[in-house]
Amino acid sequence: MKFSIALFALAFAVSVGTMFAADPPPWAYGFEGPPQAGATVIPVPPAKPDPTPRTVPGATAKYSRTEISNRFGPADWFPSEHPQMPDVVAHGKQSNVWACGLCHYPNGKGRAENAGVSGLSTEYFIHTMRDFKNENRKSADPRKANTNLMIQFAKNMTDDEIKAAAEYFGAIKWTTPWIKVVESKTAPKTKPSNGLFITEGSEMEPLGNRIVETPVDGEATEVLRDPHSSFIAYVPIGSVKKGEALVTKGGGKTTACGVCHGADLKGLGPVPSLAGRSPSYLMRQMFDMQQNFRKGTWTELMKPVVANLTADDMLNIVAYTASRTP
Ligand code: HEC
Ligand code: HEC
Repeated sequence: MKFSIALFALAFAVSVGTMFAADPPPWAYGFEGPPQAGATVIPVPPAKPDPTPRTVPGATAKYSRTEISNRFGPADWFPSEHPQMPDVVAHGKQSNVWACGLCHYPNGKGRAENAGVSGLSTEYFIHTMRDFKNENRKSADPRKANTNLMIQFAKNMTDDEIKAAAEYFGAIKWTTPWIKVVESKTAPKTKPSNGLFITEGSEMEPLGNRIVETPVDGEATEVLRDPHSSFIAYVPIGSVKKGEALVTKGGGKTTACGVCHGADLKGLGPVPSLAGRSPSYLMRQMFDMQQNFRKGTWTELMKPVVANLTADDMLNIVAYTASRTP
């Protein structure tokens, strides 16, 4: 009897242990702490109306804050820097598909809380939109509203609209760095805002075991959506090197990534690139795949890759991939 109670206690401890191991790392999902039991989606609020005309460095146009965040026709600050946008990218489709350019920017570089989508192969882009549509791509953090929005958009798009968006973003080559990686013991104090961490003032705090990916200029990114205003990722000291070992050799825990993602991690055939992409985004994807929230047919190839990685391994991996030139 005593023995079986002890056994039960042990089994319970193990299951609680795995439960905690499966908590989505909050820094990658845009929250300050893990989700509590019964947590549900936190909706994205519409921006407060503000008619004051604004501009960004180098642009000639002026837009009000309301226009900048118009879900069906957001600001396009630099129209000469990208091909003509298909209607769905520029305007979305009333009432369930928002303009792709709103979150991913017209140049497709995207932000930490969503994803860089430029330069992806058309084949992968279409495949992954279908995964969203079939609910094979969900977020491990139930609060992450914009993953649900992607599902909603994909469900309401025609195949032609998906193809047009895929061809548009795929044709924009991603070559300039967008995220600067800095190894550091400290990071600026940030506050979460709709999935993005915004720096407040100049106060620093210990970084600990996380990555703080934040806009270089919070106002330019959050309010103005300036597609020239980039990001900085504070990563723990030594993480890039540890990540490099796992990525290039596998370290007995995983498969070297270059086999499928290309030796330079810039993508290979339909397999997406990893180099220079948002570490928060890639962390979410690896974690979601490991925990079976992302599970399309192609995800099968990634399952054994992530199966034995700890959250720290994944953090080190994405610190390294983010530090590579895109
Ligand atoms: C409200 C913001 C928002 C809008 C608008 C938006 N997306 Fe997204 N998109 C996201 C988020 C968030 C993710 C990443 C989800 C995650 O991390 O779980 C994403 C991911 C993607 C990905 C996956 C990229 C990859 O590497 O696998 C593709 C493709 C994509 N979006 C296409 C589109 C298209 C096409 C449109 C326009 C119809 C669009 N998105 C509009 C927020 C948005
Ligand atoms: C056997 C081939 C293979 C290997 C090895 C591999 N990957 Fe992948 N990876 C893929 C495929 C295929 C996809 C697309 C999965 C999908 O569509 O769901 C992918 C997707 C990803 C994504 C999501 C990208 C996005 O745009 O959403 C990440 C992150 C990733 N891999 C990281 C890695 C890392 C890190 C390694 C090495 C430790 C690695 N992969 C090794 C085949 C591979």
